[in-house]
Amino acid sequence: MSHEVFISYQTESQAFVEQLCKLLESYDIKCWYGKRDVISNHASEIPKAIRGCKVFLLVVDENVATHPRGDILNEVYLASNLFKKGLLDMMSVNITNIEYEDDELLYHLGRLQKKFLIDKMLPDGAINLLAELLTRLGRGECPVSYGNVPGDVRYKNDYFDINDDHERERLNTQLHILKKFDSDVYDRILSGRKGLSVLDIGCNEGNLTMDRFGKRPEVRKIIGIDINADAIESAKSNFENEKASFYLLNGEDADFGYDLAEIREKHDIDKFDIIHISMLLLHMENPSKLLKRIKPLLSKGGKLFIRDIDDTLTFVHPDPMGGFNRMIRICAREELSGYRHSGKEIYSMLIENGFRNVALEKKGLDTSQMTLEEKDALFHTYFSFIYEDTKILYLRNPENKRVLDDYNWLENNYGALKQEYDRPETLFQLGFVTYTAEK
Ligand SMILES: C[S@@+](CC[C@H](N)C(=O)[O-])C[C@H]1O[C@@H](n2cnc3c(N)ncnc32)[C@H](O)[C@@H]1O
Repeated sequence: MSHEVFISYQTESQAFVEQLCKLLESYDIKCWYGKRDVISNHASEIPKAIRGCKVFLLVVDENVATHPRGDILNEVYLASNLFKKGLLDMMSVNITNIEYEDDELLYHLGRLQKKFLIDKMLPDGAINLLAELLTRLGRGECPVSYGNVPGDVRYKNDYFDINDDHERERLNTQLHILKKFDSDVYDRILSGRKGLSVLDIGCNEGNLTMDRFGKRPEVRKIIGIDINADAIESAKSNFENEKASFYLLNGEDADFGYDLAEIREKHDIDKFDIIHISMLLLHMENPSKLLKRIKPLLSKGGKLFIRDIDDTLTFVHPDPMGGFNRMIRICAREELSGYRHSGKEIYSMLIENGFRNVALEKKGLDTSQMTLEEKDALFHTYFSFIYEDTKILYLRNPENKRVLDDYNWLENNYGALKQEYDRPETLFQLGFVTYTAEK
């Protein structure tokens, strides 16, 4: 069998690489690494080996992260050129928590590649990497139980485009479906109170903001903010009134607090009684920073409401051919769908940032009590979105082999999956989570 995975590493991590290869090769994933596979001439054999493999896997230890040697940079450079042409996949396995400090590495790797943070002591943590490699190499599902989806890292994703009607429609459908999911939580945080001021971060076009807070008599003032100028323009023209105002603001910006201070002064808001963040944290690289910044803005007795996603809680059953599982996996690695393990991490972020009374109010929206229309709508907010995104990615990168595989597979199987989904005995749960917290 020819080599499939080129492992790029510095000699300090030789022992780790040997263990990793042993694991991958026990699943018939044939690896290439210098110490074992160079026969006589590094300079000619390495470029040839990289070109012959399907995946380039960089092992990032402390040395690579801080002072990568020239030969590593050469390998990364060569691989990233092939990656740009869609001829090679790139991933890194980080065995250190240190972020890349080297500009050249940062430049070549950026956010295009997939990172796995795993322990030096294999095989713990390597299962996600293994699952991802098996998928990318077209070997189907990982035979080992590892949860629903491969690991992933957070990344910044300002994906929203006002001209994307499909996405706008999806957000609106989601808004209605979610009503049953956590409307009691809204009732609990609002009922019996009065004169409340609400801050909605990532309010988009304001539809959800106004649906949940616009007509509530308990609410005196609503401030919606979003990073997307078109979304804010739309929110202003559709909803701005005495009670509601919308502003273009970036929750990750260092000046966020100052800008918000001006807005609070203008609207006579001391602190916010409700801070609402729905489906935003999964798109942020460092949500903890935002949580830290907003804590001082919450009034005493005020409530933070967070809705997010965790695909560990997402499943379809029965799934005899594993097709739904593959869809969930595609969603996890798609660059447009956010970080799909975000939900469970929010709990510790809230605790670490000093929030009290943190409650995981809801976990997983399922179809068991849904009408046929609702079940169908839930399919469209998730599966059709994966299908559409894969098409978009395919049109953008027609030569990328992985995207092409996903696209072809979906073209051939999407209709059958929908039929399977529509069967009365098929249960779908989508991993929405809702938290509340106080300061
Ligand atoms: C998935 S939409 C969610 C919209 C709405 N909250 C909902 O649940 O339907 C995420 C929104 O967050 C916005 N967003 C992303 N990054 C942001 C940031 N750093 N600051 C403010 N808004 C941001 C996007 O523009 C988008 O409108």
